[in-house]
Amino acid sequence: MTAHNKKLIRVLKGEILTPPPIWLMRQAGRYLPEYRATRAQAKDFLDLCFTPDLAVEVTLQPIRRYGFDGAILFSDILVVPHALGQRVWFEEGAGPRLEPLRDASDIANLNPDGLHDKLAPVYETLRRLCRELPRETALIGFAGAPWTVASYMIEGQTSRDFATAKTWAYRAPEEFSRLIDILVASTSDYLIAQIEAGAEVLQLFDSWAGVWPEAALRRWCLKPAAEIVRRVKAIYPEVPIILFPRGAGLLYEAFATEAGVEGLSLDTTVPLNWARERLQGRVVLQGNLDPLLLVAGGTALEAGVTKILETLGNGPLIFNLGHGITPQAPPEHVEQLVAQVRGWRARAGARLAR
Ligand code: CP3
Repeated sequence: MTAHNKKLIRVLKGEILTPPPIWLMRQAGRYLPEYRATRAQAKDFLDLCFTPDLAVEVTLQPIRRYGFDGAILFSDILVVPHALGQRVWFEEGAGPRLEPLRDASDIANLNPDGLHDKLAPVYETLRRLCRELPRETALIGFAGAPWTVASYMIEGQTSRDFATAKTWAYRAPEEFSRLIDILVASTSDYLIAQIEAGAEVLQLFDSWAGVWPEAALRRWCLKPAAEIVRRVKAIYPEVPIILFPRGAGLLYEAFATEAGVEGLSLDTTVPLNWARERLQGRVVLQGNLDPLLLVAGGTALEAGVTKILETLGNGPLIFNLGHGITPQAPPEHVEQLVAQVRGWRARAGARLAR
């Protein structure tokens, strides 16, 4: 099957499919016992990302179980700082750690020359996935957006308030924009290489977009994302791109009109009626089930799924979560979710007029 016949891609080209295609952010992960078993074979988390045999296996695990319409490359957004020469490691049970950037000279010392060599195993994983995926499954490549990646590079870990990174950007915007520019260039090159290795859709994760006031959000999130999209599309205009500016609130509308992407991934807090009225005529929407409903299960999960399908399902929609699935989600609840989405039929005549 060529890319344009796959459901996920058809919707990203503007078709309305009933039921909508479905995949889940972090669909490969610790909630699956088979993931934990493969994870135990790797030396550490980065080793899992950089060993194609293992990365292919964990990418395929949720596809075998649930037959999702998209398979997201197994990797992490922090492979880019690693490839730029920063020290990155994952502490068991504590999450990512980086040797933090302290001043302008640390930014100047980042070195993009080795980018593709260091990321070569990721490209190999994509090439193998092209051969091994079911013919109807779309292969999704991804990267972190510059601000979210920069926040980890400066804070050295997940942060509560991003005080160090935000203060740096306010105090010395020229320095901070050098870091953002380096990330725009390397992320664009990385995504282009992912397409060349077989990625058919791209998702850009700006998980911490929601911490900025409007002007800064436009400068540090919207503008860099739009520039990455411009660079990728200059070479591969036909490859659809989904952007996830988590927490952007009312500014989701600016992303819909100014980022140049086909799809926007909605976080859990975005009101569905507002999204239908203000966004869905302009971009394909993806989302936005609360990941904790997958932990709760039962009627709460069912009601949450119904609400999304009934509000957004008559326009172009990709069913997904509003953020990544948590390790506590029972695999049976994911099965319940997939069955409900796949069994959904829109009421006649309810299609969105476009
Ligand atoms: O979605 C998928 O299934 C593909 C793989 C994927 C991972 N991370 C695997 C992973 C993707 C797309 C990511 C993106 C990512 N990584 C983001 C953006 C999306 C989001 O969740 O906001 C961010 C911010 C990161 C950085 C990161 N990596 C954090 C904060 C953590 C620790 C959190 C945790 O769950 O432990 C990671 C580690 C990580 N990345 C794991 C997985 C499966 C768990 C590590 C393990 O197995 O021990």
